Amino acid sequence: MEENMLATGEDYSPSPLLLNPHAQTKGGDDPIFHWFSRSMAAKAEGFDVVNGTLGSLLHEDGTLMVNKTVEAHIRQQPERELCGYAPLKGLPPFRELAIEMALGDQRVPLEKLGLSAISIATPGGCGALSVSATNFIDRGDNLLLRNRHWSPYQTIIHEQNCGIETWPLIPESPVNGLENYDGHGFTSALTGLVERQKRILIWLNDPAHNPTGLSLCRNERSALLNDIWGFAVAHPSTGFTLLIDAAYSLYANEPFGWAESILEKMKSERKWPTNLMLCFAVSCSKSHTVYGLRTGALVCLHPDKKFLNNVSDVLLHSGRGTWSAAPRVAQRAISEIHNDAQLLEKWTVERDAFKQLLAARREALRSSAITNGLSINPTHDGYFAFLECEENHAICEMAAKDHQVYLVPLKGGIRIGVCAIPEEKMERVAVALADGLARTR
Ligand SMILES: Cc1ncc(COP(=O)(O)O)c(C=O)c1O
Repeated sequence: MEENMLATGEDYSPSPLLLNPHAQTKGGDDPIFHWFSRSMAAKAEGFDVVNGTLGSLLHEDGTLMVNKTVEAHIRQQPERELCGYAPLKGLPPFRELAIEMALGDQRVPLEKLGLSAISIATPGGCGALSVSATNFIDRGDNLLLRNRHWSPYQTIIHEQNCGIETWPLIPESPVNGLENYDGHGFTSALTGLVERQKRILIWLNDPAHNPTGLSLCRNERSALLNDIWGFAVAHPSTGFTLLIDAAYSLYANEPFGWAESILEKMKSERKWPTNLMLCFAVSCSKSHTVYGLRTGALVCLHPDKKFLNNVSDVLLHSGRGTWSAAPRVAQRAISEIHNDAQLLEKWTVERDAFKQLLAARREALRSSAITNGLSINPTHDGYFAFLECEENHAICEMAAKDHQVYLVPLKGGIRIGVCAIPEEKMERVAVALADGLARTR
């Protein structure tokens, strides 16, 4: 055998030969994991690191916070639940629970008004996002997002051979007191898309938006819903799907705000537009702290049950053709917890304690930001906060090098992982950011 199988002096790369053209456009490190690895390396070298990179809830000492009710209930599952396959669409009690996690108490009134719901279990919220792009728009189409979004959206969308169109997260000048909804930006983006595409898919991460922590209020949700509803009525031959990415909703003050707004809208309308579907990407990663067990669901709402049954079969096909069935054990354990009053109470107490911790950390960041003259984005709920700035990469480099503060530069600014930073370290974060901003002005 040759000592070195790689022929030297060859002047062509195997990539164009072995990777298809779309694959050749892929690559690069995920920025979130890249900065996380750098913070870990600095910690291993003995530095007193502040790690605000990852989207996991951490104890003050940097270890993972776990909802003990969920952990204990998973550990006591029998062999079959731990190791067996789940049905392709997911375990029936989990599929029911997913609908409740999306709609809460509004499910019954919504159904009474004629809305139906189906769900399919997916490997996390990511699986739900991915199958929505596979099926609800055409290859080559653009998906509509706000201009500040979770960066893996770009990867999921690129994987589907689709592109991105955006509208501003925050309007330059609020109209009708809507501080956090740019209706003009949203409707102009829709106007452009309607001319070019047969189907339109919008991903809206709300409440507790990643990366800012922003949650839309009731008026803002209603305005957005009115706008998309109006477009669906005005363009009956275009398909419109609004997907609410509810990954952090159970840590928000209004976890079921969207279901309330949909109910309100239905009460004021006579007829649901046939060409409008509303969906929720449900994730158990954060709400039940089972990040690695890849458990979530796609919930779809429409009044036409027959159509929804068809959607459910389409989604089964996509799941079968990519990940087969979603993992079983957390579907079983979590649905059992939610169907047992005592276990549910225990889970709720722990979840509420996590919520309070997040609120305390966010408050500490807010007040340190004020004392250091930083103007962070509106931030209400969930795991993150965000500083808009142009020199995001340079500032993150300075924060890491000179302050041992690790954050993530994302499009348009810097994400601060409130979920991972102890309350008393927020001052260091604000000082590092203020220093970086001053030095890059
Ligand atoms: C905005 C957003 N959506 C969806 C997800 C999906 O999470 P998972 O696939 O772990 O359920 C995440 C996870 O970080 C997220 O931040």
